[in-house]
Amino acid sequence: METLELKPLTKKKLNALIIEKEYNEPFQIAKPTSASNPLFKPSIGFFKFVETVVSKVKVDFAAEELGMRSPKEFYEDNIVAQVFQKSNIPYFPVEIDENAKNYVATALDKKIELRDQVVKAVDALSKKNVNDGSMEKEYLIAYGQSLQSEIEEQETELNFAIRESWMAMGIMNHAREIQGKEEITCLFICSPNHVAGIKQLLEQLNVKVEVAKLSKKVISATAEVPSASELNNWLQSIQVQVKPVIGKAGENPPYLLFYLDTDTKASPFDICMAYDAGYDAVIPYENVTAEDSKTVALDALLSRGPKGAKNTVFMIGGKNAERAEEVLEAMKNVMFPPFKGNIIIDPAGAYTTAAAMVAKAENALLTNKLGELKDKTCAIMGTGAVGQIAAVLLAKMGCPVMIVSLNPKRVDGKEHVEGIAKLLAKDHGVQVQGIFAPNAATKIEVLKKADVIMCAGIRGVRIIDKSMLDEVKHMKVILDINAVPPLGVEGIDQKDDMREMLPGIFTIGALAVGELKHKLEKEILREAKSSGKDIYNYNVALPLARKLLEKDLFPAKMALTLNYASKGSNEKP
Ligand SMILES: NC(=O)c1ccc[n+]([C@@H]2O[C@H](COP(=O)([O-])OP(=O)(O)OC[C@H]3O[C@@H](n4cnc5c(N)ncnc54)[C@H](OP(=O)(O)O)[C@@H]3O)[C@@H](O)[C@H]2O)c1
Repeated sequence: METLELKPLTKKKLNALIIEKEYNEPFQIAKPTSASNPLFKPSIGFFKFVETVVSKVKVDFAAEELGMRSPKEFYEDNIVAQVFQKSNIPYFPVEIDENAKNYVATALDKKIELRDQVVKAVDALSKKNVNDGSMEKEYLIAYGQSLQSEIEEQETELNFAIRESWMAMGIMNHAREIQGKEEITCLFICSPNHVAGIKQLLEQLNVKVEVAKLSKKVISATAEVPSASELNNWLQSIQVQVKPVIGKAGENPPYLLFYLDTDTKASPFDICMAYDAGYDAVIPYENVTAEDSKTVALDALLSRGPKGAKNTVFMIGGKNAERAEEVLEAMKNVMFPPFKGNIIIDPAGAYTTAAAMVAKAENALLTNKLGELKDKTCAIMGTGAVGQIAAVLLAKMGCPVMIVSLNPKRVDGKEHVEGIAKLLAKDHGVQVQGIFAPNAATKIEVLKKADVIMCAGIRGVRIIDKSMLDEVKHMKVILDINAVPPLGVEGIDQKDDMREMLPGIFTIGALAVGELKHKLEKEILREAKSSGKDIYNYNVALPLARKLLEKDLFPAKMALTLNYASKGSNEKP
């Protein structure tokens, strides 16, 4: 039995031109079926294309996967074979070794036999119309289903990982047999399903690989296929345009995320999130200015072409939201179609955190039948980026909003917070009230006026004491996002999710918000990778956060173990 061994050529160089076929060559290990479907044949366009390639490129040998065909069918019932025969180019089938296939198939056969026995037993029970209350049939079905998924998994493993390795080895072995040449060129005719896998394997063996496929367009005066009597005339009127697409087949440019941080150290948090969201590479830049960002954006996009640009995303981070916005403006202005990439802006996580806070409070009020957030008076305790954006989002929803500066060390507190309110009006077109509340008495005043209180103060600093809450009479929802003790509210638990901490006072803790923020950032990273919203800012984040809360339909802990109860048990499915 031949053994599978993939090794590079020595003292020789192999170039492989892979031509993607128009269909996937049928291959099945378990139940061989005939490959007689007339559409699983190369078309006249493909034949002409291969003929053209062979006339223009000096090909030393050609190969194709055999699939379910016999060698006779491969050579005699295959118009592509004629091209190579005419040009005297050696042409070989490559496929998994018959013994290796049988070896894998034997293991699989045992499972298939078992599955078939289970299916028979289920059939027999159904025919007997067994309905004596036993769970026999249900458990047999569950067992059969688990066998079926194991069979499918093994078939996929064989068809891809194992078969592709054998095919790559076949190509390498034929190249090895060619004597007296330092550089060999082979043409490999490959099913679309296997182009990426074979390409990767060959490249790992130092083979230079290029891929081409056909784009085929049929031009006809009418979209309908005519009756049999008119078919001949109709066929004469149609045109089949065949165009090779070189270097593109089976290839998708990798997803790159350029992470532009205005701080001195790029945030590992966002970098890890981006990898977890599926980016192939994350390229961090630190200390980024608006000017720098233009160069990064243009250099990245122009180097990748329009298709690569689609798979290029930029993310702007850094503690200073104003600087991040300047970078965004600069990048927006420098990009032009088709060289445009999606841009995510989330300075130090503030935009996703603010959106998560608002969505969480809105959802909590609704699910607890406490009314709509848009009708509530809200107080934002903290004037950092999170607090400011939460204030903007709430004001845009129509809530009366107070933004509260709390730092007792501030001497210019009133001017400072009124300045922030003016800035929000200028930059975001919203009206909010700026209040300086550095002590218990001023804070109690704010708490009395607000229905919903969102604490977005600096980490590790208590903002609300229990004694202040004792002064507060009617229903309140208090949310805190400071996860570092002491927490922002005395008595709150980070895991609170509308716990009635005191009569009429419901709390939402940092972990409940943090969990949504985490999901939201990942969702934004994923969306930016696959769709074209252009700019992902807090305006995009809020509806997405709402959607994520709606989508939580599955309970988190759903694992269950079912035990087979003996006949006669009354357990019902
Ligand atoms: N859970 C999450 O996923 C997540 C994500 C990002 C941020 N966060 C948290 O969100 C909170 C806000 O973050 P941020 O980036 O917007 O702002 P920040 O820089 O942490 O500060 C918030 C505000 O706290 C006030 N402050 C500063 N020193 C103070 C003191 N000694 N006493 C009382 N107040 C003081 C300042 O406002 P004034 O000077 O106007 O009073 C400052 O603007 C932080 O606790 C942060 O850890 C959580």
